[in-house]
Amino acid sequence: MGFYAERIFPWILDATEPPGLADIRREVLSGVRGRILEVGFGTGGNLPYYPSEVRKLTVIEPSGGMKRRAAKRIANWGGEIESVPFDGPIWPLPDASFDTVVMTLVLCSASDPAGVLSEIARVLKPGGHYISSNMSPPRTPQSCATSSVSTASTKSSPAVAA
Ligand SMILES: C[S@@+](CC[C@H](N)C(=O)[O-])C[C@H]1O[C@@H](n2cnc3c(N)ncnc32)[C@H](O)[C@@H]1O
Repeated sequence: MGFYAERIFPWILDATEPPGLADIRREVLSGVRGRILEVGFGTGGNLPYYPSEVRKLTVIEPSGGMKRRAAKRIANWGGEIESVPFDGPIWPLPDASFDTVVMTLVLCSASDPAGVLSEIARVLKPGGHYISSNMSPPRTPQSCATSSVSTASTKSSPAVAA
């Protein structure tokens, strides 16, 4: 990863968090359950908004800079974070191993969004939930509000509805 992705983007992500995003994070995370994977964990921006009963998460994040900035939030959260190494498009996670996959604001920056969705379909258990929230630039509260409606899809086949 380059200098921007490792050093600048993590800082910008935290410094430009729109005020309305907290409510959206809380809303999309209210339905999480079971064994949870968060894809594109970033600096841990979702952590304060998980329901209090969630005390363990598995996360996957390609950027070391993001992971370094997440350390403080992880310490404040107090629960257990299992960080899975990101070694390429196929994640080192077993098929059908998560009840919920959470992914917020990732597809707009992923180089292979179809590949990410395919991996989500692979690791979700049958009947599992995919919870996503995305937004389009410009990154304003208005764009969040209009494009971050949560999508919770029950997995009934190998395909995940995006
Ligand atoms: C805009 S940030 C959002 C971070 C966090 N999800 C949030 O809501 O604050 C996008 C994140 O997705 C990560 N990312 C980019 N491509 C990815 C991929 N293929 N798989 C997983 N994460 C990816 C980036 O490193 C970055 O941390």
